[in-house]
Amino acid sequence: MKEFIFPKDFLWGASTAAHQVEGNNINSESWVLEHLPGTIYAEPSGDAIDHYHRYPEDIALLAELGFNAYRFSIEWARIEPEESEFSYAELEHYRQMLAACHEHGIKPMVTFHHFTSPRWLMRDGGWLDEKTLERFARYCERATKHFGDLIGAACTVNEPNISMLLSKMLPFKIDETPFWDTAAQAFGVSHDRLGLFQFVTQPRMREVILAAHRRAFDVLHSGPGNFPVGLTLALVDIQAAEGGEGKSAEFQREQSDVYLEQLRGDDFVGVQTYSRMMLGPDGMVKPGDDVEKNQMGEEYYPEAIGGTIRHAAQVAGIPVIVTENGFSSSDDSRRLEYFQRALRSVASALEDGIDVRGYFCWSAMDNFEWVSGFGPQFGIIAVDRETQQRIPKPSAYWLGNVARRNRL
Ligand code: GCO
Repeated sequence: MKEFIFPKDFLWGASTAAHQVEGNNINSESWVLEHLPGTIYAEPSGDAIDHYHRYPEDIALLAELGFNAYRFSIEWARIEPEESEFSYAELEHYRQMLAACHEHGIKPMVTFHHFTSPRWLMRDGGWLDEKTLERFARYCERATKHFGDLIGAACTVNEPNISMLLSKMLPFKIDETPFWDTAAQAFGVSHDRLGLFQFVTQPRMREVILAAHRRAFDVLHSGPGNFPVGLTLALVDIQAAEGGEGKSAEFQREQSDVYLEQLRGDDFVGVQTYSRMMLGPDGMVKPGDDVEKNQMGEEYYPEAIGGTIRHAAQVAGIPVIVTENGFSSSDDSRRLEYFQRALRSVASALEDGIDVRGYFCWSAMDNFEWVSGFGPQFGIIAVDRETQQRIPKPSAYWLGNVARRNRL
């Protein structure tokens, strides 16, 4: 294969999310959910991989591997642990983290909300509540004031559409489980006032979240700093199985187009893709037993990213950054091949003139995969959770090398 040279200034990075890596995010709603009786979480996040304390060595390692960017999230529940009580110490913590990136020649991409919210927000209905819009904007404003001058790029919210995907993949409705009632009780709200970001159960939530994105977009643009702002979407590559054209088109709208159409003025859209989904006349067609899958049960299909980049660029008409792409497996050689093939489809989109500005793998390190706990391994760096030692996998060296050379 002929060598492909990526555009100048292409971002090469790895992604994490605060709650999945930092540890002891005790003021978040997720911490509460993880500890409920009858919780659906396989295990609590605990110390996670203690990135909260170990970020200096983690950032240094990413730079050493060859990356020029790092996407991570800041935690609202730390910065504002009680309503309108802002923590200077936590703001300062993230300022230092950003500074560490710059010291290593790493461009920091900051996600302001990656699934978790402060637990106090839930008492008013969370992402169902009108006030969340202004509260989120206020938090963004505080944070940007404190360290906006060091931000390289920003994502307001992560995957507001994740539950569309989950609803297709889960055999039950989350708000019809006993867990839902226990959770509502824990936050002191009624069954239909539980506004958890990860589990959008009512159309109203989508409106609140997208409005919050719009407000945050303006807030982040008012400085200090001058950086591109967008949001990220969970985009599965939707393909029609025989007779499934109608169902596919319908799901494409629900999952992506209703969001993408609203992003037209944004600086970029973050595309996050892991696999494809085949839809037949009766809905999702599950991949057969003989098909290779990741640890989440999704088909091994690295070319999915090419499909979603093209679709996102076409509908939103703005630059694309791949903000997450990867494969969870205990066999790193499968991950390495996944990246090889995925990057070829990114290169082919670029060759066709699509404006792709960066590629961030998910994830920098093995981490807390939400309800699945620490089982799934998405990382290019393994972590021994006893000692918290970091051990880069072959895929980390391979991807870092592509990044350093900016060519495939
Ligand atoms: C996601 C999240 C990550 C997940 C990843 C793997 O965007 O869904 O950003 O938190 O860990 O997608 O499932």
